[in-house]
Amino acid sequence: MTTPNLLPQDFSAFSLQRVPADAQLQAWNAADELLLSRLTTNDDNLLLVNDSFGSLAVALNQRVTAWWNDSAMAQQALQENCARNQSNLPKLIHSTDDLPNELTCAIIQVPKSVALFDWQLGELATRLTPTGKVYALGMVKHLSDGHQKAMRRWFDQNNPGRAVKKARCVELTEPLMVEAVQAQHSSTDDGLQLISEPGCFSAQKPDPGALAFLHCFNRLPKVNRVLDLGCGNGILALSYLRRHLHANAVGIDESAQAIASARASAQANGLSDRLELIHNNGLTDLNLTDVPLVLCNPPFHQDTSLTDTIAEELIKSAAQVLGKDGELWLVGNRHLGYHQRLKRYFRIVEVKSSHPKFVVLAARDVKN
Ligand SMILES: C[S@@+](CC[C@H](N)C(=O)[O-])C[C@H]1O[C@@H](n2cnc3c(N)ncnc32)[C@H](O)[C@@H]1O
Repeated sequence: MTTPNLLPQDFSAFSLQRVPADAQLQAWNAADELLLSRLTTNDDNLLLVNDSFGSLAVALNQRVTAWWNDSAMAQQALQENCARNQSNLPKLIHSTDDLPNELTCAIIQVPKSVALFDWQLGELATRLTPTGKVYALGMVKHLSDGHQKAMRRWFDQNNPGRAVKKARCVELTEPLMVEAVQAQHSSTDDGLQLISEPGCFSAQKPDPGALAFLHCFNRLPKVNRVLDLGCGNGILALSYLRRHLHANAVGIDESAQAIASARASAQANGLSDRLELIHNNGLTDLNLTDVPLVLCNPPFHQDTSLTDTIAEELIKSAAQVLGKDGELWLVGNRHLGYHQRLKRYFRIVEVKSSHPKFVVLAARDVKN
């Protein structure tokens, strides 16, 4: 006897928002809709992976037991969207925490980072029951050769199904045991060792923007406490600590993989006791005050979406936590126009570098 499919057919029945809120972008896509029509299993023990805004958790509600995610912004969105729709909050598992064994069905939104996807598929494959299944969802244009290769590496059966509205829902079964993706090691010219877990920003080599910023580090104010907002593998905070032996730093990142990377990098450079790390969406609910110096290399993507909303939020929140003479130093691509953005919150904004592609800006004197 077959059980009737009680799943909703689309997301329009729910009230769903992104974090950060963005009136131009919705909190689900055609790949999520395709999943609702393809999900045939009667399994009510679903693991959701990378559910960017908690929309799948809301739609699949009772059938979701655990929610595995790297992103603090996604977690905030999940909590807000579950509350908005009176849905059950599934058990939260950060990407750096262990997954349960004996998984029978996982649904993964394919992330932009191939390394993160490959690593996540490995974690799933090693915990899936022999008859277990993974649904991998994504827009066709975002499923690269690297993503396809990762799926073939970890699963013997790989059924891409028919694409609908330019979206795919690939069914993966018969897990294989192959070598897991490892953390990447890199270094700066002055010998800072960097360790980047799968999915961490600029894992293979230091980001050119960060390197342009490091060229200005001899001009940074000398303070005893520095905040690295969006710390990634910790390149900025750790470089400051190496130059200023009495300073301490706080690194914040919304990616748990980034926080794990910064922790490993701090350890590799003998700086663990001077770097505190916090997994959080920017400065939300942290109550930091009187910070003398904030360093930031802001993101302009949220996974596959281009966005300037996150940079705006980070700049605004940095302005709120600075002490009276505090400064925000920021690096960005010249064309992104951060100068104007900073001028909304600070009276004084100075250009500190003359790199052809990147601009380093120092902002102080916060507007009330
Ligand atoms: C351009 S990368 C810079 C990373 C590192 N500071 C560097 O220079 O290589 C931006 C970082 O900001 C993080 N990020 C994005 N949105 C964030 C948010 N809302 N709160 C905290 N970190 C965030 C990303 O995970 C990423 O590690």
